[in-house]
Amino acid sequence: MAQQEDVFKKLVSHCKEYGFVFPSSEIYDGLGAVYDYGQMGVELKNNIKRYWWDSMVLLNENVVGIDSAIFMHPTIWKASGHVDAFNDPLIDNKDSKKRYRADVLIEDYLAKIDEKIEKEVEKAAKRFGDAFDRTKFMETNGRVLEHLAKKEEVHTRFAKALNDSNFDDLRQLIIDCEIACPISGTRNWTEVRQFNLMFATEMGSTSDGAMKVYLRPETAQGIFVNFLNVQKTGRMKIPFGIAQIGKAFRNEIVARQFIFRMREFEQMEMQFFVRPGEELEWFKKWKETRLKWHKALGLGDKKYRYHDHEKLAHYANAATDIEFEMPFGFKEVEGIHSRTDFDLSSHEKFSGKKIQYFDPELNKSYTPYVIETSIGVDRMFLSIMAGSYHEETLEGGDTRVVLKFPPALAPIKLAVLPLVKKDGLPEKAREIINLLKFDFKCQYDEKDSIGKRYRRQDAIGTPFCVTIDHQSLEDNCVTIRFRDTMQQERVPIASLHEIIADKVSMKNLYKQITE
Ligand code: GAP
Repeated sequence: MAQQEDVFKKLVSHCKEYGFVFPSSEIYDGLGAVYDYGQMGVELKNNIKRYWWDSMVLLNENVVGIDSAIFMHPTIWKASGHVDAFNDPLIDNKDSKKRYRADVLIEDYLAKIDEKIEKEVEKAAKRFGDAFDRTKFMETNGRVLEHLAKKEEVHTRFAKALNDSNFDDLRQLIIDCEIACPISGTRNWTEVRQFNLMFATEMGSTSDGAMKVYLRPETAQGIFVNFLNVQKTGRMKIPFGIAQIGKAFRNEIVARQFIFRMREFEQMEMQFFVRPGEELEWFKKWKETRLKWHKALGLGDKKYRYHDHEKLAHYANAATDIEFEMPFGFKEVEGIHSRTDFDLSSHEKFSGKKIQYFDPELNKSYTPYVIETSIGVDRMFLSIMAGSYHEETLEGGDTRVVLKFPPALAPIKLAVLPLVKKDGLPEKAREIINLLKFDFKCQYDEKDSIGKRYRRQDAIGTPFCVTIDHQSLEDNCVTIRFRDTMQQERVPIASLHEIIADKVSMKNLYKQITE
């Protein structure tokens, strides 16, 4: 665990050192849980967004996009339930004065039980070697059974307390589990209180009466309130989806783990409208499609898992998370929710406008049901960074840090490096960039030794380096170096486009997810 925390710290400083992510307002000592993306970060982020957008809007004839405003009529948040119910249960430690989310304290406690079980399994696997039977061991080992029983007991109480909004019992559970504050080490806890996460501001001048408006805490409501606009103007037939990428804001109290939990972040959401009664079938389909989308990136299938929700939000009849193995454990990156007809019905009630769909095949009108896929761009970014970060010891004892990004997402696709900065080599390098820059983001670098330049490109995850030497001027061939294997090959300049396009094209990803 300590080793993983160490990796996480290194990842955070790597992000800053190489222009991926900077703390916001840094020269003014920063602003809590707000971050800026640098010159490399913005490229990676844009590539992630393109991968998502195209896989929704390009690959599905029946999914279209919109871009709705951040400010919306305040009644929308009443209708969606956010004014009354978008709360976190908070608890303070009286000694350290630190504030925590009560549910997160208990979830961390449950994760620790899982770790203990895994340790027992690992120990036994070592002891028994090839003869080890994991299932049998889990079913019979006394210590594992004790841990499992404890987990079940805490989990059941936890789910019930959350479902019943029973905050006294949530606090009692923290006390009964002997959960201590990581800072003070004490169990001196306050009551659990509810805290609304929406940011509010005022619109209009105060003289003519300003209106309280909220910064949207999710992009989804912009889609719901445009359901009729899109359905009618696009002549959309159910089932169909509306996709949107945009900023969302939440006054997270326990903001931690870098860009995992931010106060200003970006979401990529898609609402898929279906016939009532068909929603669970579509839920299953989108659940599978979305996992395929993640896995196609090639970071390793074992890094993903589903986490089905115990406590369903007030509007949902099924929900699951896709979790990624971050350096601090498996964490939610995307949520897939079956939201029933809650949102459209509620907006119909609060707005007084009829929001229904006439189904020509059934010859009747109804309020469509909704399957939502909702993923945070920043969390996706963090999962890509974490899954790509490698420290390697090379032959001869040298080390390198390399970001093995999926090539289609890499910020820079190729670096063009003249061996020396004279004798016409820089000019040849520029020629190559001019040939390739319309299709691939290129970087020119002539400073320092070739070895140092390769390291710099490894550190920002550039899949290809192309080196120009004196021979290149005569035979129009260059040396191409592959990031992951570090192998080098002499190839004609004329073949560069094909070699690079084959690896960095998003088309390969799209094909995998539509197979
Ligand atoms: N419309 C549904 C919705 O907003 P959510 O589970 O609250 O559901 C969806 O959020 C996704 O948005 C999460 O899976 C996560 O990736 C991202 N997200 C939520 N809160 C975030 C935060 N404070 N910082 C960064 N990403 C966040």
